[in-house]
Amino acid sequence: MASLESSAMEASVNRQDPVLKLEQVRKNFGGVTAIENFALEVFPGEIVALVGDNGAGKSTLVKIVSGVHAPTSGRIIIEGREVAMSSATMARAHGIEVVYQDLALADQQTVYMNLFLGREPVNRFGLLDRRKMIDETEKLLKDLDVRIPSAHATIRDLSGGQRQGVAIARATHWASKLILLDEPTAALGVAETAKVEEIVLSLKQRRIGILIISHSLDQVFRLADRICVLRRGKQIGVRKTVETDKNEIIAMITGLQQ
Ligand SMILES: Nc1ncnc2c1ncn2[C@@H]1O[C@H](COP(=O)(O)OP(=O)(O)O)[C@@H](O)[C@H]1O
Ligand SMILES: [Mg+2]
Repeated sequence: MASLESSAMEASVNRQDPVLKLEQVRKNFGGVTAIENFALEVFPGEIVALVGDNGAGKSTLVKIVSGVHAPTSGRIIIEGREVAMSSATMARAHGIEVVYQDLALADQQTVYMNLFLGREPVNRFGLLDRRKMIDETEKLLKDLDVRIPSAHATIRDLSGGQRQGVAIARATHWASKLILLDEPTAALGVAETAKVEEIVLSLKQRRIGILIISHSLDQVFRLADRICVLRRGKQIGVRKTVETDKNEIIAMITGLQQ
């Protein structure tokens, strides 16, 4: 049944343009080549995992797509149009949001303020529209099944899993096209990780493209439609999850035959 569903999903995905297309992307830091000749497409509703050893270039790639680092050369194409992603603000304007492992939320603030941090709606008097923020936060948390006491809760009172739920909810609220997740469950326990994975899977229904970095191959095989392997800045290959296995992916990551 799972394979029927995924082939139906694939068929519907393939009819559309990719939300993200990278062509010949390279990034040098001084004399170090962090990424060379990288190419990838991410389709709406698709989860692509980026795997590789430490230093392989995974975070650099996420930073290129999210406007933190400009690529040394290559093209970033969003829904068929080449874009210059020269700042995080610009990436956001293109509907791209990032979730990091280190739970980048404002600890002292409420959940609803975090959802709108830096992008708060104002009413016609120019005052913060708290009602709107609270209503939208509550709706989103409910839709994503992020279980927290209330939109008024302070971030520091939440568990790691709840915080990551809020971070993903924030990304979901603002991302119209693509969410990048860099080790979103690295700091979480088993049950919290399972909950975050559930939320990530639920994003497929919203037709958002998802690029996730994870060092857990179990997680990658649970979530991803396709798996892209990097080794020392080189793109080793991309596999459909249903057409590969952990042994092959490990061999690609390490460069050693299993
Ligand atoms: N800001 C930077 N300045 C210089 N070198 C960097 C910078 N960021 C990453 N690197 C280098 O680029 C390579 C890839 O790093 P990174 O993308 O963080 O790998 P990963 O996330 O796969 O562990 C490493 O050799 C790292 O030292
Ligand atoms: Mg990294």
